[in-house]
Parts: sequence; C-alpha cells; structure tokens
Amino acid sequence: MSLAMLCSILIVSTLAQLAAADFYRDAEITWGDQRAKILNGGKDLTLSLDQASGSGFQSKNEYLFGRFDMQLKLVPANSAGTVTTFYLSSQGAGHDEIDFEFLGNSSGSPYTIHTNVFAQGKGNKEQQFQLWFDPTTSFHTYSIVWNPQRIIFLVDNSPIRVFNNQESIGVPFPKSQHMRVYASLWNADDWATQGGRVKTDWTKAPFTANYRNFNILGCPKSSSGSTSCGSPTSSNSNEGWRTHELDAAGRNRLRWVQSKHMVYNYCSDKQRFANAIPVECKRSRFL
Ligand SMILES: *[C@@H]1O[C@H](CO)[C@@H](O)[C@H](O)[C@H]1NC(C)=O
Repeated sequence: MSLAMLCSILIVSTLAQLAAADFYRDAEITWGDQRAKILNGGKDLTLSLDQASGSGFQSKNEYLFGRFDMQLKLVPANSAGTVTTFYLSSQGAGHDEIDFEFLGNSSGSPYTIHTNVFAQGKGNKEQQFQLWFDPTTSFHTYSIVWNPQRIIFLVDNSPIRVFNNQESIGVPFPKSQHMRVYASLWNADDWATQGGRVKTDWTKAPFTANYRNFNILGCPKSSSGSTSCGSPTSSNSNEGWRTHELDAAGRNRLRWVQSKHMVYNYCSDKQRFANAIPVECKRSRFL
C-alpha cells in the first residue's frame, strides 16, 4: 500500500471517529447541574463531584446490542471514596445491566476496575482488575461489546473479560431489554476504597473525571418502538461487533490480563458461594 493511500485511510477513519463522538447529539446530562459540562463543541464531557453532589449523564437512545466505546481520564491524585462509572442498564424491575466502575484510591495506590453483569435483576458476577497503566494521566478507551452470543469488556482494545451466553445451561443473559448508556461520578466512601476504610478527602474537592470519544455502534430503539439495526449482512466494517469473539491472540491477551491483573473473581470466591459456585464458573476459567 502506498504511503498516500495509507494516509488517506487514516484521515478518513479519524474523521469518521470525530463525527461519531458528539455528546450534544447523543447524550444528555441528567443530574449534578453545573457539575457536568459538555465542552469543545460536543467532543468532551467532564463530570465533577463535591460534597453536595456528584453528576452524571446518559445516552439519548436505548439499544439492543451494540459496541459502546468511551475514552476516560479518571480523577487524579487522591481519588479515595470516589466512583466513576460507564455502564449500560435497562429500566424497571428485573433489569439488565453491564458495568464498568472505577473505584478511586489514595494517592499512589491503584484504581480498581469493577465489572459486573446483571440479567433479569440478578447480578453477583463481579470481576475486578487493576490496570497496567495509570488511568489518571491520559485518556484510555473502555469498551463494552454486547451481542447475542457474549459480552466482552475491553480496555484499550485488550479483552479483560468475556461473559458468554450460557442460557443453554440455565444462566440468564441480557438479550431482550433495551439498555441506555449511563456515566456518573459519585461518592461511595462507605464501601469503595479499601472496603470503606479510606474516606473521601473533601479538602481536595471538586473531583473531576473526563470523558471523550463516546462512540456507539449499535441498534437503537426508534420512536415507534422498533429496533433499527441495519442489515446483519452489511459489508460495513462497523458491523464487526455483531459476531465479535476472541481469536487466539485475544485469548492469550485475556489470559495475561486475568492472570496478572485480576484482583477479584466471583467464580473463585468459595467463601461467598460456599457449596454453590455459580454454574457458569464450572466451565473454563477464562471463557
Ligand atoms: C487501593 O490500594 C490498595 C493497596 O494500596 C489495594 O489493596 C486496593 O485494592 C486498592 N483499591 C481500592 C478500590 O481500594
């Protein structure tokens, strides 16, 4: 491929990404008043937290399956007691939810990334990780791929967790309720940091988390209530999420993340589940 061709491909894909990320068009601030701000023509959004309130936003649309990317730069320095989130959730009883939560820590101590999946109101499927980089000094990309076969959590495109659809062995899987994207920054110093022992230092408030490049490739619910999703056979390269699964390199990367960076896995929590380790945990440890 010629250099000129490569450059034009890079330019086109960069433009496509910029066009896709617009908080004015795709999101609305839902709480926290002036603590949440859309900046830079819709490309950036900041959330802040002070002693009176946190703040949050949600996507305008609801989706049934998709790929959801967000770039985040987390609260720096002493973030103990703060929780920054990026998650999908349906509404009402028996809800579905797919979570990324970033639990702050005292200066110099690592953030914990908390993940969970709820189906029909039941969660209890937590896995937690510490990162291989400092998530407070620059933006990193956190992604949720959600298709009928599986949910994949990615950090900078590295899979950190795969939750397969195992309805065939009786494990509920979110697949029929539309979900919205939510993000928030709030205080949870009763549990978040070192089990609640380290409290938020309000002399350091306001705390701020930065979001950008909010990018959704998915199937939004239209105003008529139907879900429009394009054709599954479309040659559009944006359709990869529909069948996204791990290849050999992805499985190796996942094993590396899970062996080196996972700090909690509900599947290994014998104390908590006693003799009733969840049925999906009896299958392969990683997938
Ligand atoms: C905070 O850091 C300590 C060690 O310094 C670690 O044990 C803990 O898991 C970290 N994360 C949270 C959220 O407490």
